[in-house]
Amino acid sequence: MKPVYCYIVHCANQAFYTGWAKDLQRRIKQHNAGKGARYTKLNGPVSLVYWETQPNKISALRREREIKKYSHLQKKSLVSEWYPQMSAQNPTTQYEYLSIAPGRVNLLGEHIDYNGGSVLPAAIDRNVHLYANPRSDGIVSLTASDLEETISFRLDNLEKKMDLNGNPLPEWALFPAGVAWVAQERGYVVSGLEGEFTSNIPMGSGLSSSAAVEVAFAALWRELNDWPMDNLELSILCQQAENQYVGVNCGLMDQFSVANGIEHAALLFDTQSHEWQPVYIPKNIAIIIADSKKRRSLATSAYNERREACEQALTLLKQDLPEINTLNDVSLSEFETYGHKLPPIIYKRAKHVVEECHRVKQAADCLNKGDVKKFGEFMLDGHASLRDLYEVSIPELDTLVELASQIDGCYGARLSGAGFGGCTVSLVDQSKANQFIKQLDTGYQKSTGIKADIYLCQASQGVIVKWHEHAD
Ligand code: GLA
Repeated sequence: MKPVYCYIVHCANQAFYTGWAKDLQRRIKQHNAGKGARYTKLNGPVSLVYWETQPNKISALRREREIKKYSHLQKKSLVSEWYPQMSAQNPTTQYEYLSIAPGRVNLLGEHIDYNGGSVLPAAIDRNVHLYANPRSDGIVSLTASDLEETISFRLDNLEKKMDLNGNPLPEWALFPAGVAWVAQERGYVVSGLEGEFTSNIPMGSGLSSSAAVEVAFAALWRELNDWPMDNLELSILCQQAENQYVGVNCGLMDQFSVANGIEHAALLFDTQSHEWQPVYIPKNIAIIIADSKKRRSLATSAYNERREACEQALTLLKQDLPEINTLNDVSLSEFETYGHKLPPIIYKRAKHVVEECHRVKQAADCLNKGDVKKFGEFMLDGHASLRDLYEVSIPELDTLVELASQIDGCYGARLSGAGFGGCTVSLVDQSKANQFIKQLDTGYQKSTGIKADIYLCQASQGVIVKWHEHAD
């Protein structure tokens, strides 16, 4: 199932009319045939000036209602608002498409998305903005504005991972190239692009900056080439790009949350069945991210090694528990009985996974019931387990968690993402959020000499693609 559209048409009387549709072109034809809506019948013909994707009918209807409340001026500015900030620097370039993909923070369920567990991430209000026009010569020419680097590569030569001049692609270009490569392997058409992107998701900080780039490109190509897939399938395609092209053996959590985020909610995502549901975050709770400023690189870190340890644990546990398919299938009591047979390191890794899978289920129930206090305790337990059993924390992250947990108004804190550096996430009473940020900032600087980046963030909507008429 493809996403649906929320759109604006410009009417002959200069007014804007807002609607939603599954098949956009068909809908516009209906309007112009006088069969769309009374208003457009009376004030047609209309021309499509703006659309954006929405994951489903409910969110499209909600968005339609929201836009309908806008004044004429507000609608006008929505239609033109996303003209690239970059076009100020490069006025000759105008882009018809904008794909916006958020980063994500994980509230609980770490290193279990490749073990069949349920995770609880949320998309956040930090985004990749990708501006682009299609081109017909099979070349992708991209500028990473933040890095001030431009790269062009051919779509018929992706295996080589080379640019047009035969130089190896830089790491950031592997993400779009990987998405294009997987799509082609699956038989989808991938069009050439001319584009630029910018991101305010800090790189290598555990907030899924790379998944956001992948999903931004995939969603754009889906629109341009009519790929028949929903956001879940889109995220699987991006995960395959990361696994098979970039070379990081990640699970599905990051790409899934970037594609499917919901405002004000975390997503309880079962990585085995792929079923999921939103878990709304109470209004009086602030999500605060603290970036330790210690960077990591997922590909060169021990991430793949941890994953192998889990595979070994599964193979060994299967000798006593032949019916299990993933570590998520092992109950706490089964692990108690058979876990001690595992070699010491493998035992520690598997213990974290089995307990974390269990923890997410209990904690999600608490959050659903609004029991943030109990949820916060689970977060702290989760961090201790990542530190002592899975051994993916670093002293700076431990310091941030330790300090945060002692500040008034904090319910819980933990490292978020793969670890080995990056960020912590804390849930804090909204009324104490500013004070919390100040205290954590001072405390961290005093303990480590490092100035952290600490900010409030909102659980946000997943990827959307916007389009508007080319202004020649
Ligand atoms: C990275 C990976 C995810 C997940 C987390 C750890 O973010 O991309 O798939 O495994 O680490 O929970």
